[in-house]
Amino acid sequence: MANLSTNIAGLHLPNLFFNASGVCCQHEHELKQLLESDSGSLITKSATYEMREGNPSPRYVPLPAIQSSINSMGLPNEGYEYYLAYAKKYDYSNPKPLFVSLSGLSVADNKKMVEGFVAANLPCVLEINFSCPNVPGKPQLGYDMEAMESALNVLAPIIKKPFGIKLPPYFDIAHFDTAAAIFNKFDNLAYLTCINSVGNGLAIDFETETALIKPKDGFGGLGGLMVLNTALANVNAFYRRCPNKKIIGVGGVTSGKEAFLHVLAGASAVQIGTQLKEEGPKLFSRVKKELEDIMVAKGYKSLEDFRGKVKTL
Ligand code: DOR
Repeated sequence: MANLSTNIAGLHLPNLFFNASGVCCQHEHELKQLLESDSGSLITKSATYEMREGNPSPRYVPLPAIQSSINSMGLPNEGYEYYLAYAKKYDYSNPKPLFVSLSGLSVADNKKMVEGFVAANLPCVLEINFSCPNVPGKPQLGYDMEAMESALNVLAPIIKKPFGIKLPPYFDIAHFDTAAAIFNKFDNLAYLTCINSVGNGLAIDFETETALIKPKDGFGGLGGLMVLNTALANVNAFYRRCPNKKIIGVGGVTSGKEAFLHVLAGASAVQIGTQLKEEGPKLFSRVKKELEDIMVAKGYKSLEDFRGKVKTL
């Protein structure tokens, strides 16, 4: 038998799989579906200080021919107090730990939300989203190294406990180096989630010659299989550079096989977005079984047996 259990931010997950923030997690009934699924954990939709309707539709379109998607949701969410209330009534005797994603539109908003959670002193884990590509006029904080460091300087000491951040994909070795050096300054920054969608792609319908989504003239974040290799590179780049931090891999996981590759690259847990949106929460039973079968076939008993052990030529 293969053991898929893992640890993130000091908490035990019965298996490494959960949803990528944004999918199946805006409302309580969706979070309930995740709780009832075979996932090892769950994370809430990125919250802003006030509730948001998000961008006009169509704002998510699957690209089935390439098992991918484009979205410009624009952070529709119920406002942080909704997720705080959910976290307050969450049953922490459940084997699945609860992760809460926060995506303030300013450092001041992130600070207020974090203070709200700290005051409640809950055993959930905060994941601060530094990488939403879809709010018009708001650049992704993760691409502004100085701004990201000052945000961490404000937030990390308030949070005190282990927490994580959701990063955009980086594409240059110098950016991996600079970002990792910043992250390594913060001891309670326990994990990095790599990657958010690949921002500002453009999907065009060949017949109608029209952009597939409405917001931002059709520009939106790319997810699914087309981003797998960028995700693996980011997981591995930070796994190598941040030895005291855990990496959560997200991007391009459609089956146990891509999850296996994420762990080989260094992931301690794996989040699934596009494929979960398309298949629904029953996906978790399938990918768990597929990964277990791969591990048995290769003779691996636990994730530690192969985590980060990708060979290079
Ligand atoms: O692709 C994304 N879409 N990433 C985010 O961080 C937020 C989400 C949205 O709501 O637009």
